[in-house]
Amino acid sequence: MIFYFSGTGNSKYVATRIADETNDKIIDMAQVLKSGSFDFKVETGEKVGFVFPVYSYGVPTVVSDFVKKLDLDFDANVEPYSFLIITCGGSIANASGLFIKMLQESNSLVPNAVYSHLMPDNYIPMYNVPTAEQSKDRLEKGNQILENEIIPTIKEGKRHTLKPSTLDVIQTAVMYPAYTMLRGTKSFYATDACTSCGLCEQICPTDSIEIQNGKPVWVKKQCTKCLACIHRCPARAIQHGKGTEKRNRYVHPECK
Ligand SMILES: Cc1cc2nc3c(=O)[nH]c(=O)nc-3n(C[C@H](O)[C@H](O)[C@H](O)COP(=O)(O)O)c2cc1C
Repeated sequence: MIFYFSGTGNSKYVATRIADETNDKIIDMAQVLKSGSFDFKVETGEKVGFVFPVYSYGVPTVVSDFVKKLDLDFDANVEPYSFLIITCGGSIANASGLFIKMLQESNSLVPNAVYSHLMPDNYIPMYNVPTAEQSKDRLEKGNQILENEIIPTIKEGKRHTLKPSTLDVIQTAVMYPAYTMLRGTKSFYATDACTSCGLCEQICPTDSIEIQNGKPVWVKKQCTKCLACIHRCPARAIQHGKGTEKRNRYVHPECK
């Protein structure tokens, strides 16, 4: 079983490709959180995977909330092979260390294979992002690594470690708390381009958006900041502050 979280499709694509090759199923962490059922039976020989994006050199709150409640049921004498892949636009710093600690505390499990996987950046509030078209090279290089290195490692049940540097550890320690505290929804708004299609409400992983009088309203003070609402709005109507109006939108080409 492969647990994933994804705002704009990068991590879902990686989880799906691995699942296709290993005949596994993919499970959306955000849906599990909404369902409130955290018990999963791991059959003997079954692999357990986690795939999600890095946020502020750390772990999205959907992922940390999920993993703290996750209850994997496996034979203590036969620990399952497990893997962790964190997608990023530049660097994950020590996000892997952070997640591994959470998983160890909740389920006494340490991933056998750990990867950081470079994909197009979707962090639009601070700077422009490439479109999927402009990201072709990066997507192609990423696919080569996925197909030729990551998938074979997982299929063969091999080990792969990441050793975060001292700088990585410092970056995560400094930047990650800012994300967990400052996840406010105040800067989101919809322009008159909104067609009231309701997609933003449907895809929001934290149920933070409600359509009221035909327009999205952010009804929670904080969200996980996946930015799916901005990038996936078909009318480009959703903005975050003034800066995003002229910026590109990014969605993985396979993201439906
Ligand atoms: C709130 C937020 C914070 C991010 N922080 C980082 C970061 O610290 N380092 C990085 O390389 N990419 C960062 N990114 C980029 C994403 O991790 C990257 O684009 C990821 O592949 C998106 O995955 P998804 O399409 O599955 O949502 C951030 C994106 C968001 C939305």
